[in-house]
Amino acid sequence: MKAVKLYEIAPDVLSRMANGGVFLTVKDKKGRFNTMNIGWGSVSCYWNEPVFIAPVRHDRYTYELLQDADSFTVSVPLDDGLREALKIVGTRHGNEVDKYALAHITPLDALSVDGKVVGECALHIECRIGLTMPMEPSAMAEAVRERWYADGDFHTLYFGEVAACYRTDIDD
Ligand SMILES: Cc1cc2nc3c(=O)[nH]c(=O)nc-3n(C[C@H](O)[C@H](O)[C@H](O)COP(=O)(O)O)c2cc1C
Repeated sequence: MKAVKLYEIAPDVLSRMANGGVFLTVKDKKGRFNTMNIGWGSVSCYWNEPVFIAPVRHDRYTYELLQDADSFTVSVPLDDGLREALKIVGTRHGNEVDKYALAHITPLDALSVDGKVVGECALHIECRIGLTMPMEPSAMAEAVRERWYADGDFHTLYFGEVAACYRTDIDD
């Protein structure tokens, strides 16, 4: 395992999000956990720290878990081998099916937060939620609202302070 800096791996994270997505995993305080696909998100700097911002729409089961969670993880595949798994976790709902069994992926304990990562990925970002920010519809340009939120299902943005960022396919 090798610790890496969020800013250094930003190009990998952004290009994977734009090409098939990455795994966003949430474990709540009752111990329930779930993973879904995110294709949007930000690698950013807030409060002088590296921060990952994850946008989650309100009809997702993951959103329900986030109501009672203080962390999330992002697991990033570095090749195309998990495309089918990403499709499954990005179209099925964790309160209806066992996504881990269907997608043949493994939940492993996170290192720095009380959460899970996807074991088949080589790159992981573990985050503590520092800010939960529902999108304010009245603050949105009409064109954006019409294009992306015509059904009224807005995103909430989760600002995650990076607690650990590492690769499991290489060693220090
Ligand atoms: C490529 C791809 C990217 C996605 N990106 C997002 C995203 O950024 N935010 C979001 O809320 N849903 C996104 N989704 C949809 C969720 O992954 C999908 O609704 C999933 O079934 C939710 O799972 P859950 O109900 O178990 O939480 C994406 C789906 C795919 C296939």
